Amino acid sequence: MKVLISEKRIAERIKSLAQEVRADYKDEVPIFIGILKGSFIFMADLVREYRAECELDFMAVASYGAGKSGTGVIRMVKDIGANIRKRHVLVVEDIIDTGLTSNYIRQYLALRQPKSIEFVALLDKHKARKIDINIKYTGFKIPTNFVVGYGLDYGERYRQLPYVAICDD
Ligand code: XMP
Ligand code: MG
Repeated sequence: MKVLISEKRIAERIKSLAQEVRADYKDEVPIFIGILKGSFIFMADLVREYRAECELDFMAVASYGAGKSGTGVIRMVKDIGANIRKRHVLVVEDIIDTGLTSNYIRQYLALRQPKSIEFVALLDKHKARKIDINIKYTGFKIPTNFVVGYGLDYGERYRQLPYVAICDD
């Protein structure tokens, strides 16, 4: 296990991301939708740096398979409770890999006619993209190695690590 992004770098980056997002939403009250489970720590840190009014909700999706590579077949595990019609939605994701999960989420949420949908992702494996998807805010562009920590797991382990590490197991 090798540290890729330290706790300090994550904290600094989230602070500036939160400022950027706040400036864009100005007087609006956006709904942040965290994608479980991977985004739970990022969401908690992002909203505490946001320092303006916002609402929160969560949804969970799963890609079949529990190992290192998803299958691209995505299913809803937990839906949002909020009514997002005519609201500004910011989807909070841990990591974008092929882009298939985010694409599914965007299409799913768009059916409820929000005023806008944007994405913020802490990590972006941009070279792994299989579908073109617009991620407005990105924390770090990273290589395609499998990473864990800061919410991300390998077989449900390592989510609690305060940093992001490369997992070569
Ligand atoms: P796609 O390919 O749909 O995948 O963009 C996004 C989801 O895949 C998982 N994923 C990872 N999880 N370490 C992880 O712990 C990784 O390096 C990694 N790469 C992709 C993750 O669930 C994400 O939401
Ligand atoms: Mg996982």
